[in-house]
Amino acid sequence: MAKREQWGTRSGFILAAVGSAIGLGNIWRFPYMAYDNGGGAFLIPYFFALLTAGIPIIILEFGVGHKYRGSAPLTFFNIFGKWEWLGWWQALVAFVISVYYVVVISWALNYAFLALDLGWGTSPERFFFDEFLQLSNGPMDLGGIVWPVFAAAIAMWAVTWIILFSGVKKGIELANKIFMPLLFLLLLIMLVRAVTLEGAAQGIDWLFRPDFSAIADYRVWTAAYGQIFFTLSVCFAIMITYSSYLPAKSDINNNGMMTAFINCGFSLLAGIMVFGVLGHMAATQDVALHEIVTQGVGMAFVTIPEAVNLLPAPEFFGFLFFLSLVFAGLSSMISISEACCSSLIDKFGWDRKPTTSLFCLVGFMLSLIFMTRGGLFILDITDHFINNFGIVFAGLVEVILLSWFFKLDTVRQYANSLSDFAIGTWWNFCLKVITPVVLGYMAVANLVGDIR
Ligand code: PHE
Ligand code: NA
Repeated sequence: MAKREQWGTRSGFILAAVGSAIGLGNIWRFPYMAYDNGGGAFLIPYFFALLTAGIPIIILEFGVGHKYRGSAPLTFFNIFGKWEWLGWWQALVAFVISVYYVVVISWALNYAFLALDLGWGTSPERFFFDEFLQLSNGPMDLGGIVWPVFAAAIAMWAVTWIILFSGVKKGIELANKIFMPLLFLLLLIMLVRAVTLEGAAQGIDWLFRPDFSAIADYRVWTAAYGQIFFTLSVCFAIMITYSSYLPAKSDINNNGMMTAFINCGFSLLAGIMVFGVLGHMAATQDVALHEIVTQGVGMAFVTIPEAVNLLPAPEFFGFLFFLSLVFAGLSSMISISEACCSSLIDKFGWDRKPTTSLFCLVGFMLSLIFMTRGGLFILDITDHFINNFGIVFAGLVEVILLSWFFKLDTVRQYANSLSDFAIGTWWNFCLKVITPVVLGYMAVANLVGDIR
């Protein structure tokens, strides 16, 4: 068997892990979630979830990936033998995400170009659903591909393919070393612009104003845990795969903490940026913020274009915003696809080049479904099931298996022996008790909620 590929530098690994974590979820999902779940009060369950689940699991995944040196299926195989399927399940969830995630990135790429002459016009909502996605014939209208989305998706799959094809160091690491600094620069420029707008403070205040009654609502807690899993890309076979490419002497605990904190810091700054701009819109249009804020897809592709229209130099800032979505999305897209390709390479002993080519071709064909006029509708359904069942189930089984049916403490001691600072037994408690209880509760609550 060929020697396992490796990252060239420590910063290369961290940038790749951060690139996976920072994605579409940070720029529109986080701000909306925080706003909708009690504003500043959301940050309490959010940081609780980060400390009790996010950071422990990221360290766990870095630890086992490094120790067992395999993609997720191989790692679980090496730990349990018959639990290999869990790795495949995670890779499958990742694959399903990749085929629609790429389509959202393709919308963003289209919008980056549209921004150059404010092509979404004065009524972005109508533009997005009717003109751009051509949904006017009803959600189930699958007849026909939306060609601008198709063209962008070809480009995005091609970029993903070239990067994966070029390998861990020359492809993934290099791409993230370019994308990530650019992304931070874009965020910085937009942030400075946003906070200096008239009305920005009002918007930011809305985002952070704590509504403490929200903390008593269990849905706020499950929302916070869900957001942490999604945003850190844990339990998707990704972080296990990425850490399997680390050199033998690598800090596990510190890398895990850095990845988590950089990601969550980015979310906070993106939230401030978005709500600064929305606050400006509320102030200049004299409307209430809650009338402006829309959920999910609408936040990025309707509300933001509306708000951008009101900025000085709207073409420029609109372009920057959608470009930042493309960079953030692509680096996550690469990680999702790599987790799948690496599983196939480990399992069947195939070479990287044919594997990545085949994967991108099949992925492209499946993502055609989401490029049709009914694409948004199918995307919503898929996303709902992935979030509520795919992720929760994969996460729940992973923590239970690793913490109850395996000597969890060996991973902690292993990670500590490699790291600058040691983690204490609180880590075991989080993984053995807190996270399974919360995830188990989420699984049941989602199931019940769906049946009702
Ligand atoms: N973590 C990325 C985000 O916040 C998304 C992602 C989800 C990446 C699932 C990989 C797997 O958008
Ligand atoms: Na993220």
